[in-house]
Amino acid sequence: MRVLVIGSGGREHALVWKIAQSALVDKIFTAPGNGGTQSQGAINTPLADNDIDALAAFVRKEKIDLVVPGPELPLTLGITDRMRAQGTACFGPDAYGARIEGSKAFAKEIMARTHVPTASSAVFSDARSAQSHARKMGAPLVIKADGLAAGKGVVVARTDEQIRQAINDIMTARTFGPAGDRVVMEEFLEGEEVSLLCFCDGKNAVPLPSAQDHKAARDNDQGPNTGGMGAYSPAPILDDNGLEKMTDIAVRPVLKELAAQGHPFVGVLYAGLMMTASGPRVLEYNARFGDPECQPLLMRMRGDIVRIMLDCINGKLDPNSVVCSGQTALGVVLAAKGYPGDYSRGHVITGIDRAEATTGGIKVFHGGTTVRGDALVSNGGRVLCVTALGDDLEQARKNAYAAMERIRMPDSFYRTDIGIKGIRHLAGQEG
Ligand code: AMP
Ligand code: GLY
Repeated sequence: MRVLVIGSGGREHALVWKIAQSALVDKIFTAPGNGGTQSQGAINTPLADNDIDALAAFVRKEKIDLVVPGPELPLTLGITDRMRAQGTACFGPDAYGARIEGSKAFAKEIMARTHVPTASSAVFSDARSAQSHARKMGAPLVIKADGLAAGKGVVVARTDEQIRQAINDIMTARTFGPAGDRVVMEEFLEGEEVSLLCFCDGKNAVPLPSAQDHKAARDNDQGPNTGGMGAYSPAPILDDNGLEKMTDIAVRPVLKELAAQGHPFVGVLYAGLMMTASGPRVLEYNARFGDPECQPLLMRMRGDIVRIMLDCINGKLDPNSVVCSGQTALGVVLAAKGYPGDYSRGHVITGIDRAEATTGGIKVFHGGTTVRGDALVSNGGRVLCVTALGDDLEQARKNAYAAMERIRMPDSFYRTDIGIKGIRHLAGQEG
């Protein structure tokens, strides 16, 4: 089979790495890919993830059998509908289903209809009524741009002034463009976050083990929100025994509803959960693998991911085919100094071979890298995700950081506390 992976991040390198292990696959293409997908043997082609016409033409020309979109944008733009129309298998939801991620108001509607526990909320399409509702509610309040905003459209406002400013930025200054046509205002929830990702075949959802992301840029969850600075799996706050029940609460009702609406969801449905004192609440849905959650999850996953993807597309996913090792995997992101704000590119990266030679089955997944001459250089904000396995969280963490210490890149940084919350959680359980 010939497979095309769309995207250019660490998630896409991990997907290429895992897909390359499938006996069904002869050749992998990436659009546009990165230095890591190239060194993995995939053929990078310089097509943007939002250029659906060019991607469709490429798929026809190269006789691609399976398309795997990594990020949300091509999904919300209808890559799956387009592939279906030309008879190519595509592992992802149609544009209608991808609205579960692409519109927070749509996600809220579905959750209300299916009684999925979530923060109480209200949706506004004009700034004046939004501001007047906000004055009634008062801080703390969470303000979200309705549409896609590269993870930056959510403000957890702790003062009334921050609320006013957030509504102003989204709806009046239109910092996120049309993503700010509507705003969702939502009750502030307290608790620990965890990600639940499920393979879906339109009718059935099969959960992967839990994972925990680290969204803030700096240690102790300080600093601005990023795409994710590190992740590990499993997260002790949602252990394997709780997966089925959580899937019943947070994922299966949505799957049933989307099928009833004539758009059975195929692909990965990812529920971002907040574990509050009064139970789990869904914060958001993603219509794809998370980045960086994908990297540790695929390190643990056994079996043939291409087989599973094809079974999902054909509506006959076998729950027993989704099997993960009992080990813990943990990934730490190396980012360019300044990320998620402005940063420079083109810094030479060395030490990856030495890092991968350390104990713990280390795999260094590339995010923002490219090959220039003989050198590997940085080409994005999140540059690498150094991912390790271990018999427990403590060991996976030790292995990942030992490997990270062998990597050199000027003007870079990483969080030093990935996994600490999980270790505290385990210590609490023992104590
Ligand atoms: P979202 O894109 O909706 O997941 O929001 C991004 C981040 O904002 C989440 O990962 C949480 O850290 C935070 N967040 C979102 N909604 C809430 C909420 N209702 N209460 C507290 N924090 C939230
Ligand atoms: N790591 C969070 C996300 O991929 O949305």
